[in-house]
Amino acid sequence: MRDTGMDGRPTHYDLLGTTAIIDLKNEKDGGMGLARRILGENPRIRTVLAKAGPVSGVYRTRKLKYLLGEKRYIVEYKENGCAFVFDPRRAFFSPRLSFERSRIIRLVRDGERVIVMFAGVGPFAITIAKAHKNAEVVGIEKNPYACRRMVDSIKLNRTANVKAVQGDVKRVSRKYAGFADRIIMPLPWSSLEFLDSVVEVAKPRATVHLYVFGATDTVLRDSWKLITEHMKKRGCTARRLFSRIVRPYSARESEIVIDFAIRKAES
Ligand SMILES: C[S@@+](CC[C@H](N)C(=O)[O-])C[C@H]1O[C@@H](n2cnc3c(N)ncnc32)[C@H](O)[C@@H]1O
Repeated sequence: MRDTGMDGRPTHYDLLGTTAIIDLKNEKDGGMGLARRILGENPRIRTVLAKAGPVSGVYRTRKLKYLLGEKRYIVEYKENGCAFVFDPRRAFFSPRLSFERSRIIRLVRDGERVIVMFAGVGPFAITIAKAHKNAEVVGIEKNPYACRRMVDSIKLNRTANVKAVQGDVKRVSRKYAGFADRIIMPLPWSSLEFLDSVVEVAKPRATVHLYVFGATDTVLRDSWKLITEHMKKRGCTARRLFSRIVRPYSARESEIVIDFAIRKAES
C-alpha cells in the first residue's frame, strides 16, 4: 500500500490482515518512526514487522523482524472472499498479486480443470475454486509448511474442489498428465525451467499464465522466444494471448505475466 501520512511523507507497506510489513531501505531509525506513524494513523493495524533480508531459497521466504505493536507473526489475510492464516516468515505470500488473481478468476470457465504450480498457501487455487464451484483445482507446492496451510485454508473456505499436493512440480506433474485446461505458474525466478511440466499436464488445448522476471525492455521478447522454441521442439504450438507488467522489481527489471494458448500435437 502506498499512502501519504498526516505529515505528507509517503508511507509504503504491505498489509496482511492487521499486520503491516515495511521495508527498512530508506529508514534511518531502523523503521521505528514509520512504525509509530502506521500504528498511530491506522487503528486497524495492530502489528508492524520489517523485512530483514531478501526473498531467498527454494521456498522463496524472507526473514521478518518484529518492530512495534502486538508481538505476533501469524497473519489472517482476506482476499476475494477467502481467508488465509499463516506465518509469512515460513511461506511466501504477496498481496501485490491480488489484481492478477482477480484477473484470472474472471478468465476461468465453469467446469475447467486448473493446475496451480508453485501454489504457496493457496491464494490462486482457493480463490479460483471459491469463485467457480464446478472447477477442479490442484495446487502443487514443495514447501511442507505452506502446503499444510493451504490444506487448512481449503477447510476454512469450504473449497473442497481444491486438492493440495505437496511435492516438486517436476515430479507431481507426472501424476496429472493431460489433466489441465489451465495452468498457472507463479514462480517468476525460474518458471521457464518448467515448460516440460506444462506440456505434460496440459490437455490437447490449454491456457497458460506464466510469470517471469527480467530486464523490463527485453523480458517479454526473450521469454516468448524461449517458450515458442521449446513448444516447437515438443511438437506443440504456442499463441500469445496477453501480457503485462505485473510489478516493477528494480529500476530496470520487472515481473511480467504472459498468457498463452498451447495446442499439443495429435498423437
Ligand atoms: C513466488 S511463490 C508463489 C506462492 C503463491 N502462488 C502466491 O502467489 O502467493 C513460489 C512458491 O513455489 C514454491 N516452489 C518453488 N519451487 C518449487 C517446485 N519445484 N515445485 C513446487 N513448488 C515449488 C515455493 O515454495 C513457493 O511457495
